[in-house]
Amino acid sequence: MRLNHKYIALIILFLSCVGLFSFRGKEPSAIQLQNLRCEMLVDPLGIDEVNPRLSWELISAERNVQQTAYHILVASSVEKLAANTGDLWDSGVIKSDRSIQVDYTGKALASKMACFWKVQVISNKGTSAWSKTAMWTMGLLKPVDWQAKWIGLDKAFPWDSVSKFSRLSARYFRKEFKTQSAIKKATVYVSGLGLYELYVNGNKIGDQVMAPAPTDFTKSIKYNTYDVTTQVKQGDNVIGTILGNGRFFTMRQNYKPQKIKTFGYPKMILQMDIEYADGTHKTISSDDTWKITADGPIRTNNEYDGEEYDANKELTNWSTAAFNDNNWLKPELVEAPGGKLVAQMNENIRVTDIIKPKSITKLNTTTYVMDMGQNMAGWLKMSVKGNKGDRVQLRFAETTQNDGELYVANLRDAKSTDIYTLKGGETETWHPIFVYHGFRYVEIVGYPGIPTMDDFEGQVVNDDLENTGQFETSNTLINKIYRNAYWGIRANYKGMPLDCPQRNERMPWLADHATGSYSESFMFDNAKLYAKWTDDIEESQKAEGQLPDVAPAYWNYYSDDVTWPATYLIVADMLYNQYGDTKPIAKHYDSMKKWLEYMQSKYMKDYIVTKDKYGDWCVPPESPELIHSKDTMRATDGKLIATAYYYRLLGLMQHFAKILNKPQDVQQFTALSANIKMAFNKEFFDAKTNRYSNNSVTSNLLPMYFDIVPDANRKAVFKNIEDKILIDNKGHISTGVIGTQWLMRSLTDNSRTDIAYKIVSNTDYPSWGYMVNKGATTFWELWNGDTASPQMNSQNHVMLLGDLLVWYYEDLAGIKTDPLKPAFKQLIMKPESPDGLDYVNASYHSIHGVIKSNWKKDGKIFNWNITIPANSSAIVYLPATAATDVLESGKKVSIAGGIKFLRMENGRAVFEVGSGDYSFKSIM
Ligand code: BGC
Repeated sequence: MRLNHKYIALIILFLSCVGLFSFRGKEPSAIQLQNLRCEMLVDPLGIDEVNPRLSWELISAERNVQQTAYHILVASSVEKLAANTGDLWDSGVIKSDRSIQVDYTGKALASKMACFWKVQVISNKGTSAWSKTAMWTMGLLKPVDWQAKWIGLDKAFPWDSVSKFSRLSARYFRKEFKTQSAIKKATVYVSGLGLYELYVNGNKIGDQVMAPAPTDFTKSIKYNTYDVTTQVKQGDNVIGTILGNGRFFTMRQNYKPQKIKTFGYPKMILQMDIEYADGTHKTISSDDTWKITADGPIRTNNEYDGEEYDANKELTNWSTAAFNDNNWLKPELVEAPGGKLVAQMNENIRVTDIIKPKSITKLNTTTYVMDMGQNMAGWLKMSVKGNKGDRVQLRFAETTQNDGELYVANLRDAKSTDIYTLKGGETETWHPIFVYHGFRYVEIVGYPGIPTMDDFEGQVVNDDLENTGQFETSNTLINKIYRNAYWGIRANYKGMPLDCPQRNERMPWLADHATGSYSESFMFDNAKLYAKWTDDIEESQKAEGQLPDVAPAYWNYYSDDVTWPATYLIVADMLYNQYGDTKPIAKHYDSMKKWLEYMQSKYMKDYIVTKDKYGDWCVPPESPELIHSKDTMRATDGKLIATAYYYRLLGLMQHFAKILNKPQDVQQFTALSANIKMAFNKEFFDAKTNRYSNNSVTSNLLPMYFDIVPDANRKAVFKNIEDKILIDNKGHISTGVIGTQWLMRSLTDNSRTDIAYKIVSNTDYPSWGYMVNKGATTFWELWNGDTASPQMNSQNHVMLLGDLLVWYYEDLAGIKTDPLKPAFKQLIMKPESPDGLDYVNASYHSIHGVIKSNWKKDGKIFNWNITIPANSSAIVYLPATAATDVLESGKKVSIAGGIKFLRMENGRAVFEVGSGDYSFKSIM
């Protein structure tokens, strides 16, 4: 049958009506739209952002795909969206290449609303089909939306103790309620402090653990939203919660009251909204009609000391209607913790991995030591069969002593011990729920019978962030270091980035994750976690502008240091660079400025910042038992560090002020910067020797990297860095937490990737390879972590990572965003291939899509396969003597298509390429 024009037009009209393609006259192209995100989260429930930002990824096998327009529909129901009715927002066709963080500008969003959305894009290669449906729901936006009350019991029970080593049992809450008719939707909004688990009719809701994310509860409190429609029944129902202590009832009550912030006894707030099929509503709220008991199986729980569980105290079926709660107590309406209830917009903690033990060794008749083969943070799940009243004690540590006993000295006074008391009978399976341990070894005492490895599994517990990176090279040491970093980073994500997961500290120290946050971003999608952390930091700011060293400020340290709080700005810059997120900058700009002004007014004298607390923390010491070096030549002048950092931060503020369009501020920061630069060089620079201060690597490196060194002296100053590393330190690292953040990139920027490669290839002290060589499976706190005093010697700190992973990805793999087109909208791909390294295979899932870079040297031939996501482009640098030495998919680049030669630059041919897969070959 031949179709005439009328029929074709009718078919197109029909197809556009059913939504197959609505840009009339164009063929649907092969572009897929995936990974739709709202506020960078997948289908989030209960958000409190009234102008949420929407993102999507374009996927296409074609080359050079660029979005030219988008069309977003947001509807109040799935049906309306399917009918292409954007009753909440129909953006219309918007000409734009923006595919990340597009502001919702539709109808005002109100509490509890459900929003369904999809997007269609037009590109230079055709129009996509509509994406699949994505969604979000709104949380409780206004305080009046909360009808629920805070409930708890502000006292300890006879079996508890409130002392230096407080023991507090978990609290169980329950509420029975009836529903009258068919349920259309049931939603729970809940916060239980410090930690909660939620149950409806005997079912645990959600697979999150250790929720909610921790904050300073006097400032803000995170609540979570759950859809419990399928769990609520018509008739009798029960809602139940268990509260653990977390960071609320703090772990060292009465310890150092001036140092530790305590919040009181656990408490909760919960509201369930039920929408019946007939359109009526019912609300169940926490109040004093609930029931509470603390006489359940979790006898104590404490993040430092462990959890004790007595199975004989189990409250069988406690969260079902069959349970009799007559001897439970009535909760009190307690004082609210003080903070504002806000939706948790970062990922929850979950069990993200399971590992099986590697060996189990009998120490004596009652004691075994089990090796998990990996230093990890999480807990142990145990199966056990024995008699009622048998007690199994599990004690956790990172290492063992020579005789095979646990080494616990570096845990300080953290007991890290779980105890399980059996009820007897069938096999019992258990793991704690309100504590985690940092461990590789477990001492098992009192296990009935002979414990075998099959009776245990390690459950890895951390923020459930997408693993964004893959990285592998021909150098196995580099790969092992990468692997250790992976385990260390995840171990220290607990709703905030921690210093360490094992000893009696576990604090969110700021400098530990400064440039580290940037390194980590290549491995984990840490955008929301770190955005949350910038909120924590602002909340910890004092009225006059002071920022702490630890945020949330659970430990009261306000030492007016520059380098630790600098992390606030460094992280905001990372979030912009890696994820294109301007929100943290806009939100915290005033607070950042206030802090800088506070520091200036209090500590800046003649443009030199006179206050520094930590120096270049943890440089490699001269003798094995030391924590901190006593050698003044290894240290770097604190004033130099503080002033250089202040200068760097002013640079970031200029950048932020430009983004926020504040020209006057730009001017003000620029003028101050110029004065500081002058004063800095006057104070610390010796033009005769081209040295800064005592010529430590960090002394010269900071002014080099921060661009303080006069142009004419840069070469000579860099030569001093080279000599210091190669001659004085025989190719080894000599920097601490501060210097290590800039070292590897600096070496590459100054054309000495070979030195960086030497540093990373070392296996003797001090080096990352030394840790690997000594059997470490994570990173140590100290370069000499195998020999130093246990007082400050964690085996699982990530602060010495510095810019190492940035260097791995940006320099070795060549996966780097153009800072002018952040979030990998445009890439700068300039891989380094030092002698000795034969190949790199790397991929990174950016917010624009997956980037790949696989290169391999074959004699003089450089083979390089890359993938650039649709709607991104790249400037690629191939080692070559002439553009004609470059082939793509076996063809000359000039005829390969989609590749534009730009220039030759320092032994590399530079091209501009659009999205897609490319297979290059060049002669080096
Ligand atoms: C922590 C750190 C922190 C440092 C600063 C240590 O106890 O573990 O990593 O940055 O103190 O004082």
